Amino acid sequence: MDAIEVITAKRDGHELSTAQIDWVIHAYTAEEVAEEQMAALAMAILLNGMSRREVARWTDAMIRSGERMDFSGLGRPTTDKHSTGGVGDKITLPLAPTVAACGAAVPQLSGRGLGHTGGTLDKLESIPGWRASLTPEAMTAQLTEVGAVVCAAGAGLAPADRKLYALRDVTGTVESIPLIASSIMSKKIAEGTGALVLDVKVGSGAFMRTPALAKELAETMVAIGGDHGVRTVALLTAMDAPLGRAVGNALEVAESLEVLAGGGPDDVVELTVTLAREMLAAAGVTAGKAVSTKDPADALRDGSAMDVWRRMISAQGGDPDAQLPRAGETRDVPAPASGVLTRLDARAVGVAAWRLGAGRARKEDAVSATAGVTLNVKPGATVREGEPLLTLHADDEGRFPAAQEALRGAFEIDGDSGPLPLVIERVA
Ligand code: URA
Repeated sequence: MDAIEVITAKRDGHELSTAQIDWVIHAYTAEEVAEEQMAALAMAILLNGMSRREVARWTDAMIRSGERMDFSGLGRPTTDKHSTGGVGDKITLPLAPTVAACGAAVPQLSGRGLGHTGGTLDKLESIPGWRASLTPEAMTAQLTEVGAVVCAAGAGLAPADRKLYALRDVTGTVESIPLIASSIMSKKIAEGTGALVLDVKVGSGAFMRTPALAKELAETMVAIGGDHGVRTVALLTAMDAPLGRAVGNALEVAESLEVLAGGGPDDVVELTVTLAREMLAAAGVTAGKAVSTKDPADALRDGSAMDVWRRMISAQGGDPDAQLPRAGETRDVPAPASGVLTRLDARAVGVAAWRLGAGRARKEDAVSATAGVTLNVKPGATVREGEPLLTLHADDEGRFPAAQEALRGAFEIDGDSGPLPLVIERVA
């Protein structure tokens, strides 16, 4: 078999055979298929799509390109969540300890942010001492003792995806539903979770701008999970405005702590509790039954989720009592008029936070722990002209003009657009 045969088959609209898929993924991982050949194949897939059989096999081949973790001996069911990424999406931080406090184990391998969406590891690294890297043995020990781990994926997990994702990023081939679905699911299945809840974001701040595209991605991923024996459910959720009131690494950790202390913004609490219930149900753990004695809302209220958080942070070298770092400079962004704030564009706020230093342009870049944006009002509130709508946070004043520029046209006052409902649809 050779790469040109596989590329031309997909270019001409044919389905790839199982042997072709297995060969090309194996040969690409072994560096026997050149980057430019894989780039051509990725573009042919983006243009011509893949059948359900092809996506399932492609995912399977990417899982088999590396190791697959196994937590079946833990003594409690495992369940995880993956979000397709959004602005202010810190939900993993309160969610993982909440689910662990309700009886399931959460083995979450997370990533770093790229572009305008933040990464969970970058957020946690704003906690003094916390480290993202764990050996598989340390991960198992922490899951047994604490019940929740959020750490970086090792290089041995789906290495074919690691190479392919970096290639797609620079060849205009990220936005292919079969390639996104197989990329996400190969990592989550290789991670060894027994159940999975997908939070597929919809709106200006998300990969998928429309509910129809988000639904197609959700259905593709739910089917892949089912084909691999992982009980998978997806929720389509709103990303037209930022989640919560904080965007930026340490700012989002601080907001997560408010949620774990029983407070926090309503949308963050509602999404945490909704996703936690779905994760527990997918794992076969429901309140009053099996190993669970409580509902996620109670775990937030009674302090048990906070207890797991403290142990989870300490186990990875972090100091749960340390002061979080704060930016040296702040600047308010005033309301341009009086009236009801009908739109606050998630993407614009994400780009502003990124320009303030919270995100990176290239994988190797460092991020600022303290930079970001806080929302003084949420869409739906009545504001007065000149009142501070947002506060920008940065280590260096020179960052403010580019962030302010990103926010031009980001607000609508007394417009006719209404916010998306927080949970738009459930796909199972
Ligand atoms: N996240 C991934 O892991 N892969 C993609 O292709 C897109 C988002």
